[in-house]
Amino acid sequence: MEALLHVNALSHSFDYPLFSNLSFTLEKKRSMAITGVSGSGKSTLLHICSTLLKPNGGEVFINGRDIYKLPNDELVNIRRNDIGIIFQSHFLFKGFDVKENIELATVLTNSDFDEELIRRLGISHVLNNKIGDISGGQQQRVSLARILCKKPKIIFADEPTGNLDQKTADEVINIIYEYIEKNDAALFLVTHDLKLADKCDIVYRLEN
Ligand SMILES: Nc1ncnc2c1ncn2[C@@H]1O[C@H](COP(=O)(O)OP(=O)(O)OP(=O)(O)O)[C@@H](O)[C@H]1O
Ligand SMILES: [Mg+2]
Repeated sequence: MEALLHVNALSHSFDYPLFSNLSFTLEKKRSMAITGVSGSGKSTLLHICSTLLKPNGGEVFINGRDIYKLPNDELVNIRRNDIGIIFQSHFLFKGFDVKENIELATVLTNSDFDEELIRRLGISHVLNNKIGDISGGQQQRVSLARILCKKPKIIFADEPTGNLDQKTADEVINIIYEYIEKNDAALFLVTHDLKLADKCDIVYRLEN
């Protein structure tokens, strides 16, 4: 069976080389963590694997398809339906309230508003608040709710617990693990937190 994510001989540089000849595979129900110091290229690698940035060299396969060889509309479909991306800084619609932000994602992907998920994420009581009026940690959980409602196969998460206290961070990570187990999905996690990384099946470290 096809791996959910497979990368082959990836290399990328901006002003200086970030990495070269990286190859790895992420199977369903598995989690992978990328660690490394600030500036080592973790977010760049996540963007490359998640359809957002074409690498200087190498290939990225999602469900066996070489994504940077696909026409743009097919790439957009993969981005919309097959993957969910939690960004290091959130992209929520500031003028809308929490409920509208989540509904927008469910309408775009033809999926259901998952009340139980919202409750477990602890954001039921802020559904009618504007994004600007909730905390950074709550915004992080709204981002996660938007993504999980659409049932993606691969979750790409860039420091998803960066703004959370330890207890909430553990809870959020447990929800993600439970999700990948139940939905035959996989997690690609970028984090500074080595304890968090250690919970993943595979841990890579970007050096220099
Ligand atoms: N679009 C870009 N154009 C030019 N340089 C970039 C671009 N994006 C990132 N860089 C540079 O590439 C390097 C790696 O950036 P990246 O964001 O991948 O690091 P990171 O490991 O995620 O860091 P952090 O832990 O601080 O989030 C940095 O030196 C950054 O300045
Ligand atoms: Mg980063």
